Amino acid sequence: MSGEMKKPESTAFRRIVWEYYRRHGRDLPWRRTKNPYRIFVSEMMLQQTQVDRVTPKYRAFLKEFPTPRALARATLADVLRAWQGLGYNRRGKFLHEAVKMIEDHFHGRFPKTAEEIEQLPGVGHYTARAIATFAYNLPEVFIETNIRTVFLHYFFKNKTNVPDSKIIPYIEATLDTKHPREWYWALMDYGAYLKKEHGNANLRSAHYTKQSKFEGSNRQIRGLIIKTLLAEGALTAAALAKKTKKPFKFVQTIADTLVREGFLKKKNKTYLC
Ligand code: ADE
Repeated sequence: MSGEMKKPESTAFRRIVWEYYRRHGRDLPWRRTKNPYRIFVSEMMLQQTQVDRVTPKYRAFLKEFPTPRALARATLADVLRAWQGLGYNRRGKFLHEAVKMIEDHFHGRFPKTAEEIEQLPGVGHYTARAIATFAYNLPEVFIETNIRTVFLHYFFKNKTNVPDSKIIPYIEATLDTKHPREWYWALMDYGAYLKKEHGNANLRSAHYTKQSKFEGSNRQIRGLIIKTLLAEGALTAAALAKKTKKPFKFVQTIADTLVREGFLKKKNKTYLC
């Protein structure tokens, strides 16, 4: 930010965002709770998956695992089964590891500050701050795709290659410190609307990366192997290749990687979840 942000500019911006929210704010299931565990689950699910796809999965997941303890006691296979359809199984595995850490290291109590939340596996700087804000109404500063859209749209009109480090001071300067929880809901809703209306401003972010074909196909086969083993039980690499209709060597290499990462076990040449 070049110099201090002017007060009228900040006031006008806030008015626009609040006004949008007043008229069109979304009522989402994870906004009806202050339970940090429930909010944690929602944020992990929402990281790279759309709201509409998350909503039914979120409800079913919490029905099956209503508390951190219930989730910590479940097997990884049960957790991944509940995660099916969300993609990115890694996030489900992190969530499982995180609640085990809460049980073992935090005496079953969800951490109270962003710094502590950030110690949980799979939780980055911004996710930790989002959880602290939504659960405890703390005025943390964070950014995600919809928030980024709003600030690019308003304060970086014709700019390209904008790094988050330039956006963060604007988030901080405009933050409604009295109502941080609702303020971030409003930003996210307005960002989602702007994206639909004006296209993806994130193309002008320095952090925008299109997923490569290689990453895409790797992720797809990883997901497919886990899904197949959850449904079929133990299979050899040959049987897995046949079921998934993928080349044997490819399947074997990826399945061995999944074993090393702790997603699968290998017993007498068969893989299982
Ligand atoms: N409300 C709270 N967190 C959210 C998120 N990550 N995406 C959309 N709405 C939300």
